[in-house]
Amino acid sequence: ENPVFILALESSCDDTAAAVLQNDKVLSNVVANQLIHQQYGGVVPELASRAHQQNIVPVVDAALKKANINKEQLTAIGFTQGPGLMGSLLVGGSFAKSMSLALGIPLIAINHMQAHILAHFIDEEGFDKPEFPFLALTISGGHTQIVKVNDYFDMEIIGETTDDAVGEAFDKTAKILGLPYPGGPLVDKHAQSGNPKAFTFTKPKVPGLDFSFSGLKTGILYFINDHVAKNPDFITENIDDICASVQHTIIDILMDKLKMAVQQTGITQIAIGGGVSANSGIRKTLMEAEGKYGWKTFIPKFEYTTDNAAMIGIAAYHKFLTGDFEQASVVSKARIAF
Ligand code: KG4
Ligand code: ZN
Repeated sequence: ENPVFILALESSCDDTAAAVLQNDKVLSNVVANQLIHQQYGGVVPELASRAHQQNIVPVVDAALKKANINKEQLTAIGFTQGPGLMGSLLVGGSFAKSMSLALGIPLIAINHMQAHILAHFIDEEGFDKPEFPFLALTISGGHTQIVKVNDYFDMEIIGETTDDAVGEAFDKTAKILGLPYPGGPLVDKHAQSGNPKAFTFTKPKVPGLDFSFSGLKTGILYFINDHVAKNPDFITENIDDICASVQHTIIDILMDKLKMAVQQTGITQIAIGGGVSANSGIRKTLMEAEGKYGWKTFIPKFEYTTDNAAMIGIAAYHKFLTGDFEQASVVSKARIAF
């Protein structure tokens, strides 16, 4: 059988990414980060869109070159249809459409959140693929969901945040501590040398499998302000312990709900995805859950956790196999159902 070569594009937020896959193997995975947003402490949609326009051609060229493929060899093009920032989505979407028309090859539209989950089906040495049905915990800067995954494109959200995403809790904590945006990875770094039991934060009471992080965010802010009022050096003296304690609380909240989801569904295979699944504490806790609770846990390779196009490529490959193609009239969607 002829191999399938898929070019995939991801441009939902502030990273411009392109990847080339041969069937379920990644030949190249290129990401251009947009550092411009750091000075604003968050993603500025207009600037993100403009940076995507500047980055997309060089990023696609780099992905093809690294894969050692010319565009005439491509079998299909996949792109992120949503959810995300409209101005950002449109850049990747328009580029994918033009390329599919120019090359006369199928166009495949992918849901970004489904792709975070399907990243587990990339063929990588040392990484097992989950079996259906399994539970996915998708944690990112924009989402916090527990998903029951019945099949590649048959997914049910059984729990989600009622306000902020878990990534926002990390980034907000970092901001309060004076760390640059996006601060999640820096909180993680400080946490590694801190005491997770040094400080306690109140966990929110949310019914069922849903989450809430806005109260925790406010709680952290008040806690820091109170201490800084008494001791202006409180942050510098305690930053490791603060980060470790906040991270510990967040992990506790996620684990409480996962345990509940396992109990409700009887499913013990758990896969994590999304930018926050890069967190070392979360990865360690989930690995330990295998022995502790008898779960089988799936932790993606680091480069497939934060936004990337390889995950769009693997999702597109599975849509390619079923012939699920789009016309050039397909529209990008800031919000999109599963
Ligand atoms: O999936 P992603 O790259 O983009 C979205 O779709 O949102 O996730 C980005 C989020 C940010 O909030 C970032 O701070 C967080 O993931 N993040 C982390 C870590 N690495 C990235 N949070 C905690 N620990 C990390 N190591
Ligand atoms: Zn994402």
